Amino acid sequence: MDARSGGCSDGDSLTRDQTLLLRQKYISGTCQLHFGRSPLKVVRSSGPYLYDDDGFRYIDCSSRVNNVGHCHPATVAAAASQMATLTSPLAEPGVMPAEGIEERYCQRLLETLPPNFQTCLFTSSGAEANDLALQLAKMYTKRRDVVVIDGSFHGAVNSLLEISPKAFKNLHTEKKPWVHVIPCPDRYRGSYNDASTAAEKYFIDAKNVIDKAVQNSGPIACFISEPVFVVYGVVVPPTGWLAKIYSYIHENGGLIIADEIQTGMGRSGSHYWAFQALGVVPDIITIGKPIGNGHPFAAVITSHKIAGCLKANYRCGPVAATIGLSVLCVIEEEHLLHNATMTGKLLKEELLTLKKKHKHIGDVRGIGLMIGVDIVWCQTTKKPAPEIAEKISYRLKDEFVIIANEGEHGNILVLMPPLCLSVDDVSYIVSKLDKILTEVEVVDSHAIYSILSNSLPDSTQAEYGMRWPEDQLESDNEDSSGSSISNHYDSMD
Ligand SMILES: Cc1ncc(COP(=O)(O)O)c(C=O)c1O
Repeated sequence: MDARSGGCSDGDSLTRDQTLLLRQKYISGTCQLHFGRSPLKVVRSSGPYLYDDDGFRYIDCSSRVNNVGHCHPATVAAAASQMATLTSPLAEPGVMPAEGIEERYCQRLLETLPPNFQTCLFTSSGAEANDLALQLAKMYTKRRDVVVIDGSFHGAVNSLLEISPKAFKNLHTEKKPWVHVIPCPDRYRGSYNDASTAAEKYFIDAKNVIDKAVQNSGPIACFISEPVFVVYGVVVPPTGWLAKIYSYIHENGGLIIADEIQTGMGRSGSHYWAFQALGVVPDIITIGKPIGNGHPFAAVITSHKIAGCLKANYRCGPVAATIGLSVLCVIEEEHLLHNATMTGKLLKEELLTLKKKHKHIGDVRGIGLMIGVDIVWCQTTKKPAPEIAEKISYRLKDEFVIIANEGEHGNILVLMPPLCLSVDDVSYIVSKLDKILTEVEVVDSHAIYSILSNSLPDSTQAEYGMRWPEDQLESDNEDSSGSSISNHYDSMD
């Protein structure tokens, strides 16, 4: 019996083309492939690497989930052993597993957090955790209104699509009147760039939205946001901004929910949770994906008082708890916070060096091993270049590096590899990006030549598989038309 294919012997013998045919027939077209034009068939993974069906190894910078490394042997062994021993959460009143695994897991998780975090409520997904956190905030405050950040996304269930501006835009749905959107404090593309004043100016804009909401709609139940805005394109808020917002929401009697689903579990390098790296303390955190390193479970962590608003049984069961414990042990034993700090710093420094050399890198930002590279047509105009970002991600795949493109324009290269990335991996990623950006610049110069001489060499275009739109060519006199996601929600409040 082939365990990997669920006991069916034909599971792994399909070619890439046969797999694609099956996919077309049975998988909904809404589930898009990462590389739609030339899909990869990944058959194995280990550490920071993915392996395809031809045996080629890729560095996985798109993981976000497998913080301790793909298929970490300790986590796999812990899961297998627990699966063979006891899987039932024994949720019946008065019955608990003899080993107290869930209790020990809660204890270990809470040791990574400040003392106002006293209990964990477990769910199966990040979306369920955010939904539960919203329920708690609304029940605790007996209020309804929610403040969110523009461009954010908190999960694909109805209650969260309603509070996720990214979803309003993608699904063309209307913002609910009790949802209030504050601008993302983006110093690169937003209204305020100056490091010494941006936090205060963005805070005043947010305060205006909150004040208007309280006046016209109702008192605030909660503010929910990622501490570092990964979904928006890995924007780190200006120093002091989060503290100002947190304290203003508290002054107004609301609660703070930090969505740590992507930013948590050591990704910030300096701490387990990104809010700690930014010097603030929320009331509720939601954690997900990376806590199980691929095993689907999540949690809401808060005080006994807040959690006590809801009478329900949010257990995780012994398998999830064992895996969670193992992830925490691996992070400690392999010093993964230190590694994320060191390799993240190196990666960011090297990318900043590339920025000096390559005009298509507009901005490099992030902390630890969550880094965003804003790809532009020109550093002066900052015009977003999703075409180039896409070209880069496909070419990086040819060079055995997998990354994702994010942000409103799809022009941000997001690098979120497992925390066990090595210094050699960093050098490899940077050297390949350098090579590809140099190629892109060769195409640029051919295109400029063609416009000047009206004789574009088609072979060059064919070779690089793209045609640069003429209006995208560098012009330092152009307007900055890629400026921030507009703050048009203010007027809707
Ligand atoms: C910031 C953030 N919060 C919540 C979620 C939802 O998590 P899940 O996919 O586990 O439901 C996501 C999913 O991508 C996310 O990016």
